[in-house]
Amino acid sequence: MRTEAASLIDRLAQGHRLEKSGYRTLLESAGAEEYAYAAALADAARREVYGTAVFVRGLIEIGNICRNDCYYCGIRASNRRCARYALTKEQILACCREGYGIGFRTFVLQGGEGTLPLEQILAIIAGIRGEFPDCAITLSLGEYEASAYEEMIAAGANRYLLRHETADEAHYHKLHPATMSFRHRMRCLESLREAGFAVGCGFMVGSPFQTSETITSDLKFIEEFSPEMCGIGPFLPQRDTPFGGFPAGSADLTCFLLSLIRLIKPNVLLPSTTALGSREADGRRKGILAGANVVMPNLSPFEVRGKYALYDHKLSTGPESAQNLEALKKSLREIGFSVAVSRGDIKNI
Ligand code: 5AD
Repeated sequence: MRTEAASLIDRLAQGHRLEKSGYRTLLESAGAEEYAYAAALADAARREVYGTAVFVRGLIEIGNICRNDCYYCGIRASNRRCARYALTKEQILACCREGYGIGFRTFVLQGGEGTLPLEQILAIIAGIRGEFPDCAITLSLGEYEASAYEEMIAAGANRYLLRHETADEAHYHKLHPATMSFRHRMRCLESLREAGFAVGCGFMVGSPFQTSETITSDLKFIEEFSPEMCGIGPFLPQRDTPFGGFPAGSADLTCFLLSLIRLIKPNVLLPSTTALGSREADGRRKGILAGANVVMPNLSPFEVRGKYALYDHKLSTGPESAQNLEALKKSLREIGFSVAVSRGDIKNI
């Protein structure tokens, strides 16, 4: 028997869009069989654009000092238990050198939001750009003025990740204090695009107060904004935050959403995230099988890895560690994928 959900998945695979009611029906009625069906179509769509290549990025967590106070995040400003650090430009360059030697051609600089002065960010970008002209520089440093984003581009940065967190304004305010603005975050995504960045948005799956309606808004937003990259992973509780007692998001639903996002935008750069890998044994590989095509192993100095504790039990060793790229290659080879040594830019279709 062909279900309504299966027909909706077919329509999405063919037309790359659905009306909101379609997304909602899909979210509310799909079960294990439809999840598998969506994964199969997403896998085919990804293969058509990228073959079996998986892109890797070296993730450098450059500091955990944050001015935001998101209720879910372990590095929120008011968490006194978080031991703060900020890497120096030299430390960051040392990570890049090590990563380049291992084979990384994209460096992702991620850090607490809005605390690093623009001048320092520009100096870091210029340092990496000068030494690694063949590499892509991805930033994930939060909300800045449009003019600041333009300067980052001029200094040599290429991509910017800024998760929208939720496309439903009321839900946004349940996840963040009143000092944080939904509209400003959305405006930043527009400014990033106007500045010339390849832009990534994204959200957590199973965050407190999330509903099929809010996820519907996320999917519609992704369809309309058409980001070059999209980061999604399960919400995972962190014990020192207001949301420490909420249950973790589901790995299976995360994988289903990865499949739907692949069908919405066949060429999107879609990471199988650390959160997914931390949620469940083999989560990273399940994400790849569901349609993801990017992994971002941790390239931060070992002595700070435990401090970038967005959530409890975050993995930063084994295949999550950039130093173990060989182990990651082997585990992806086992499921029929190969790691590409390249910048891994989005392929235009
Ligand atoms: N669980 C899962 N993801 C989280 N993030 C922050 N805190 C958590 C958590 N507790 C995600 C947010 C943020 C990204 C860097 O990490 O979506 O944008």
